[in-house]
Amino acid sequence: MRRLFLVAASAVIAALAMLPTAASAQYVGASKCKLCHLPQFKSWEQTKMSQAFELLKPGVRADAKRAHNIDPNKDYTSDPNCVSCHVTGFGQPGGFESAEKTPNLAGIQCEACHGSGAGYLKPALMSLQNKEYKRSNLVAAGMVVPTAETCQKCHNKKSPFYKPFDYNTRLQQGTHSHEALKYRHE
Ligand code: HEC
Ligand code: HEC
Ligand code: HEC
Ligand code: HEC
Repeated sequence: MRRLFLVAASAVIAALAMLPTAASAQYVGASKCKLCHLPQFKSWEQTKMSQAFELLKPGVRADAKRAHNIDPNKDYTSDPNCVSCHVTGFGQPGGFESAEKTPNLAGIQCEACHGSGAGYLKPALMSLQNKEYKRSNLVAAGMVVPTAETCQKCHNKKSPFYKPFDYNTRLQQGTHSHEALKYRHE
């Protein structure tokens, strides 16, 4: 009996060790978010930010590149000095690594602004079983409620194409269409 308990206990410990912690939560990609947020997904897909990885390919926006002394014929898709701001989760656990290994995380996807999903996409957190989740529990699990700082991780002077960034103006220009939330999350 005691032995059986020990075996069961060690199995639980092994299972717990495999669970990702909030700090190492994985990125799941926009197609997972699409399942429950179709209007936001469809409008986001039309934005330039969703296609931002393309800008690093040779020949794309050649005039703008020339004007900023960036070689228009060079391939920047594996240059870490560029990729960091043109993909989702670069340098983070489970984030974008390369166009070959993680093609589903190219471009500025949902999780670039809302935080890596694996931590908060759980039945007891953000799910259809728990539509009235408490927001603070999701934030503790890695969800980000976007603010100006979220954008300024990329919209800053390290970008060769930096333009002054006014949060409210840029919000108006659009990240995706907005729907009023239906449930209470306080
Ligand atoms: C299984 C369904 C489901 C999936 C998958 C899902 N969500 Fe949600 N999400 C919800 C529900 C339900 C709400 C609450 C909606 C409401 O109140 O109207 C919500 C709310 C949100 C909110 C509002 C947060 C706030 O301030 O309270 C954000 C942002 C969000 N989801 C982002 C995402 C992202 C990003 C992904 C993919 C990584 C994702 N969701 C995947 C079901 C889901
Ligand atoms: C610090 C983050 C950051 C880095 C690093 C970065 N970018 Fe960008 N890039 C941005 C942002 C943000 C924009 C949009 C600028 C705006 O609209 O304010 C942008 C825009 C662009 C554009 C469109 C310019 C236009 O006017 O049409 C190209 C092309 C581009 N980046 C290529 C690159 C290349 C090549 C590198 C590396 C040499 C690079 N970026 C490095 C954040 C960055
Ligand atoms: C991971 C990096 C990153 C983050 C985070 C980010 N952006 Fe961007 N953003 C870019 C890049 C790169 C472009 C350039 C796209 C292009 O020119 O094709 C851009 C372009 C834009 C544009 C111009 C789009 C257009 O259609 O002309 C707006 C508006 C914008 N961002 C708003 C925001 C706002 C608001 C936030 C925060 C809520 C934000 N961005 C967060 C990288 C980022
Ligand atoms: C460039 C940053 C950015 C990206 C990319 C982004 N969002 Fe958002 N999202 C925001 C901002 C900003 C808000 C609004 C916060 C506020 O109301 O002040 C928001 C709000 C939301 C909400 C709350 C309800 C609503 O419609 O306003 C949901 C749900 C959501 N986003 C889902 C998504 C999903 C799904 C994706 C990917 C398909 C996505 N977001 C991509 C910045 C972003």
